[in-house]
Amino acid sequence: MSFKVLEITPVKLDDDKSELILLDQTLLPGETKYLHLTTIESIWEAIYKLRVRGAPAIGITGAYGAYLAVKHSRADNFDDFYAKFKKAKEYLGSSRPTAVNLFWALDRMEDCLLANKDKSISDIKRALLDEANLIRQEDEDVCRSIGEHGLTLLKPGMGLLTHCNAGTIATAKYGTALAPIYLGQERGYNFKVFADETRPLLQGARLTTWELMQAGVDVTLICDNMASIVMKNGWIDAVLVGCDRVAANGDAANKIGTSGVAILAKEYDIPFYVHAPLSTIDMKTKTGKDIHIELRPGEEIYKAWYEKPMAPEGVKTYNPAFDVTDAKYITAIITEKGIVYPPYEEGLVKLFE
Ligand code: MRU
Repeated sequence: MSFKVLEITPVKLDDDKSELILLDQTLLPGETKYLHLTTIESIWEAIYKLRVRGAPAIGITGAYGAYLAVKHSRADNFDDFYAKFKKAKEYLGSSRPTAVNLFWALDRMEDCLLANKDKSISDIKRALLDEANLIRQEDEDVCRSIGEHGLTLLKPGMGLLTHCNAGTIATAKYGTALAPIYLGQERGYNFKVFADETRPLLQGARLTTWELMQAGVDVTLICDNMASIVMKNGWIDAVLVGCDRVAANGDAANKIGTSGVAILAKEYDIPFYVHAPLSTIDMKTKTGKDIHIELRPGEEIYKAWYEKPMAPEGVKTYNPAFDVTDAKYITAIITEKGIVYPPYEEGLVKLFE
């Protein structure tokens, strides 16, 4: 795919492998600025503040963060080196709780470290760097594959609704839910995409429209409470979303508001597709009830994106960052290994065989 927006690398290391270069997504669409981060505290802050966001991108950032945290360690024995790594892993894992990709990537880094435990400290460091790079590269391949599988469910000219941003900047490249849209655009499908603004942090308005417009995709921005009318108008043939964690029974946590869209889609008989790399599927979590939903500061609802607060100071708020869409509303889960249909308990297990 050759769209300019896909040339952006939202998360990478510099040539010296000592700085993490992150696209600051909080400044988009107004400003394209890259942060150069070296400390684990600044990487934690970037994840917490959503400067980098989207489940796969958070995972990649966590992996590079874990590497950078021990890169300059002067430990001369494995136990001291491992202790420093464990501390960094725990700290990075405390930045955001819902996207399982963060924990998946940090676990992969730890497994890599343990698999190399008999080597010299400098060889272990090199192995950790290679592993983080591999996690990034694999995600790119995985997203492309999700795009190919997802596109088989769509037809030229379809109207599509998406919620939040599951695009190229939320991953290593291509995105998950937006990958079939990019592939379709390249192949002349002429989709008509509706992007929910995605309150309160406006990932749909700020990021999804920004991405799709650059690729020349026909995209229309709507407020979250307009999803029903565009469905009723007959303008939506499928809903495409990403996700942060899929439980073993197919329940899927994604950006707050997703579950309402899924319930509406069922009412209007519109297929609802969740796009999830295997790194987002958490077979250890039995159902959606077991998913830890991140609660964020209420100020994000009434202050973050407004010149003046648009609610009285001190107002009581409730600001969950995600909700869980029950499996019964999900038509299919699209992964890099293929499309999984209900019953998800069986289909998801097969993916890992
Ligand atoms: O809070 P965010 O912006 O990190 O939430 C992101 C989402 O909910 C995405 O849909 C999900 O992480 C998939 S990104 C490919």
